[in-house]
Amino acid sequence: MKNNRRKFIKNVSLVGASVVTGAATALESKIQTITYLKRTHFTFGTNNVNLALIGAGGMGTEDTNTCLKHKGVKLVAVCDLYQGRLKEAKEKWGGHLFTTTDYKEILKRKDVDAVIIGTSDHWHKQIAVDALNAGKHVYCEKPMVHSIDEGWEVINAWKKSGKAMTVGAQGTSSVGNEKAKELLAAGAIGDLNYAEGFWARHSSTGAWQYAIPKDASEKTVDWKRYIANTNKIPFDKTRFFRWRNYRDYGTGMSGDLFVHLFSSLHFITNSKGPNQVAAQGGLRYWKDGREVPDVMLGMFQYPEVQEHPGFNLSLRCNFVDGTSGTTYLRLVGSEGSMDVKWQEVVLKRNNVPPGDAFAQAKAKEAGVVESERKKMLPPLETTYRVEDGYKGAHYDHHGYWLEAIRTGGSVLQDPIFGFRAAAPALLCNDSYYQNKFINWDPVKMKVI
Ligand SMILES: NC(=O)c1ccc[n+]([C@@H]2O[C@H](COP(=O)([O-])OP(=O)(O)OC[C@H]3O[C@@H](n4cnc5c(N)ncnc54)[C@H](O)[C@@H]3O)[C@@H](O)[C@H]2O)c1
Repeated sequence: MKNNRRKFIKNVSLVGASVVTGAATALESKIQTITYLKRTHFTFGTNNVNLALIGAGGMGTEDTNTCLKHKGVKLVAVCDLYQGRLKEAKEKWGGHLFTTTDYKEILKRKDVDAVIIGTSDHWHKQIAVDALNAGKHVYCEKPMVHSIDEGWEVINAWKKSGKAMTVGAQGTSSVGNEKAKELLAAGAIGDLNYAEGFWARHSSTGAWQYAIPKDASEKTVDWKRYIANTNKIPFDKTRFFRWRNYRDYGTGMSGDLFVHLFSSLHFITNSKGPNQVAAQGGLRYWKDGREVPDVMLGMFQYPEVQEHPGFNLSLRCNFVDGTSGTTYLRLVGSEGSMDVKWQEVVLKRNNVPPGDAFAQAKAKEAGVVESERKKMLPPLETTYRVEDGYKGAHYDHHGYWLEAIRTGGSVLQDPIFGFRAAAPALLCNDSYYQNKFINWDPVKMKVI
């Protein structure tokens, strides 16, 4: 780690030197500190993969369209509980599709190799387990499970099946996340001691008040099947189409959004997760009958382990945020910080500015004799940005999954990774509702 850091500092200093010796203008020096990220190592085969979609709403549709952009993928069947979505599926992808409201009909089919699970969170575990037991490869949307006690069932079914299963937090497959991982390992920000993430929204759709189709009724929605694994209550179209707001079906702000940040953070740091979770929050504005907060803060203690130093994580989500639209993940270390996005990483290094009186006094105290000749300083800020034509994290994520299916290989976001990312998000809810700190063993994946 120390050698890496020295090498990194040397490399950055050389970039800085070349900027300044050319008597560059401020504009030129800014341009010099931008480097472009490249995707270089995809080698996908093109063997045919026959795909089925279970849960054909917003994300299931996006997943399917993205997966179909890869060569050799064919969609053969679609399952959804709302008739409107099945009709749309045939319009979009062709009248030849087999459609059904019963996912088990899909799993029985011999012409289906792999399924995408894009249902609301409360069905992820059961459909994933049934699909693996039926010998299908699985792409399961995040969060992998709806509650902590479901995690091991998926892991065990996956291990027994020998199939490729990935969880759908696509950010970890982005060139931005890969660059951040490389920079952290090279010592670019020194020792990690703190990380933070933030989600700010202010629109009604951002706050999960989705449009409800005019024809929504018990005739068009298979409500009995929808609630078959949870509390039995009469048909309620709001609960069906705005499921994120209700605890029987969704996992609140942390299960929906924090889980992306855990996935990226764990990938970048090689972490297995925090050992303590605490949350606060409240319902401040969207008082539409929802059962989940619209402002949430989570705090997470990451212990010192072989893979990383001890650090703290602070995550925030605000659906009543006047600034709106801001999302970020920032890693802070002893020598700088990184703002990590899927297509960009901004590295800031805390070089001591020349003329810092306090630092000069301290150096004098320590007996450091300052040279009269001033030295070149490396750049304070470097931006790594994706090259034009990048197909995106989502394309890459499906690509890694297809490659694992075709080669019998593995994916990063297997069920163990998926559970370790989902668990702190779900425990954040548990901490909020139970009003207490929760201790978690991230290695054994058990609440203590
Ligand atoms: N990776 C991402 O960036 C991302 C983004 C958005 C959503 N998601 C995830 O995708 C999932 C779906 O979210 P969405 O926004 O698309 O919701 P959505 O309401 O648009 O779609 C969910 C669909 O699942 C169907 N469904 C529910 N239970 C079913 C069952 N038992 N069998 C068959 N169909 C069933 C519903 O009829 C609905 O059409 C969620 O788990 C969410 O967390 C991930």
